[in-house]
Amino acid sequence: MDRILIRGGNRLSGRLPISGAKNAALTLMPCALLTDEPLTLRNLPRLADVDGFGHLLNQLGASTAIEGTRPEDFGRVMTIRAGKLTSTEAPYDIVRKMRASILVLGPVLARAGEATVSLPGGCAIGNRPIDLHLKALEAIGAELEMAAGYVKAVAPGGRLSGGRYRFPVVSVGATENVVMAAVLARGSSVIENAAREPEIVDLCNCLVAMGARIAGIGTDTLEIEGVDRLHGATYAVMADRIEAGSYACAAAITGGSLELVGAHAGDMQATIDALRSAGVTVTDTKDGVLVEADGPLGPVDISTSPYPGFATDMQAQFMAMLCKATGTSVLTETIFENRYMHVPELARMGADVQVHGRTALVKGVDRLVGAPVMATDLRASMSLILAGLAAEGETSVSRVYHLDRGYERLEEKLSAVGADIERASDG
Ligand code: EPZ
Repeated sequence: MDRILIRGGNRLSGRLPISGAKNAALTLMPCALLTDEPLTLRNLPRLADVDGFGHLLNQLGASTAIEGTRPEDFGRVMTIRAGKLTSTEAPYDIVRKMRASILVLGPVLARAGEATVSLPGGCAIGNRPIDLHLKALEAIGAELEMAAGYVKAVAPGGRLSGGRYRFPVVSVGATENVVMAAVLARGSSVIENAAREPEIVDLCNCLVAMGARIAGIGTDTLEIEGVDRLHGATYAVMADRIEAGSYACAAAITGGSLELVGAHAGDMQATIDALRSAGVTVTDTKDGVLVEADGPLGPVDISTSPYPGFATDMQAQFMAMLCKATGTSVLTETIFENRYMHVPELARMGADVQVHGRTALVKGVDRLVGAPVMATDLRASMSLILAGLAAEGETSVSRVYHLDRGYERLEEKLSAVGADIERASDG
């Protein structure tokens, strides 16, 4: 397994390219299953999860062809052709490795009239059930049966009817699944208390480009008029707002100045507001977002919440940054029940964080000291990288396969703006 070694203390400075969004790519790729025509996605990030999703699509009978990179994009171009599905099953050995595989349930059901998907099981940050996915699909006509760790969904008569569903809590993935299923339903659907994340907007815009009829895009009420078929399209994946926020924290914790090229300030306003509250200067530029930390960081109190609130996917990275702030910050994680696994690892580097249930008290320290630490999940890994950038001495982050799921070319991007960072192989 690979490790990442960082010798901290360098002030980061320069322009850093932001890749296509992982969490948009993972809901745009299954859209190709909704049509027998090609879907070409631009600006796809080079990530393990994107490759994994491509393998899953291949299992279902879709081809995935990488066609290089366009000059205006950082990411790759991939054309997905699902002319004919040869399978309607997402097997356990794929789903257990990548939860986002559950996002084939809605589109396969809509396209083929049936779908069998393994229950994903829990993950490091929580047990992450899929009950809301299933309830939403039932509300638009699906009949479900559970057996041996799988869920089998059937559309009576081969086509979903459409219907109305109000989510009791906001769910990004469940919103994505039901939207992808509803676009080919016989009738109309209304989804209330829908997630409003920018990745959902990207999904809806891509579906509309494919011929879907969706009103209320960007709001918590989506009205979908089912159509008989969708056609192919070419669509560019949005910039990754979480990657951008993560590198903004890198500028902040090192007292540096980074222009996040390709980032879209409108997608990350809560992160920008929190950075400004901590004393960081953030400026919208023609190429992206400029983040400058030319003074001490101050404490902030943050609660994660669904968009447009502060993203849970930014909590660990912000905690790392706040370890170097003056005073005591209060972070409250309201979305997942176990998203503080970075805390004991940060403590090995001298951080002072006390966790009480869903709340973490982060007491700023004058110095962090490099140490061997272990990544436990995607965003926790990034918090360790950030702490290493500011720590005295060398930090060695193990199990970086977690990072490779969501951060493209991390060492390359950080080295280019002054970090002393390299990847070492334990092999
Ligand atoms: C998506 O996960 C993201 N993943 C997550 O990013 C992100 O943290 C999360 O949304 C919240 O923004 C992808 O887009 C691939 P949810 P998802 O359904 O869809 C509960 C990262 O680091 N819930 O919005 O699984 C759930 O347990 C990853 O990039 C149910 O109870 O999240 C959680 O407490 C991590 N039943 C809350 O809702 C359900 O059926 C929000 O989960 C579904 C969810």
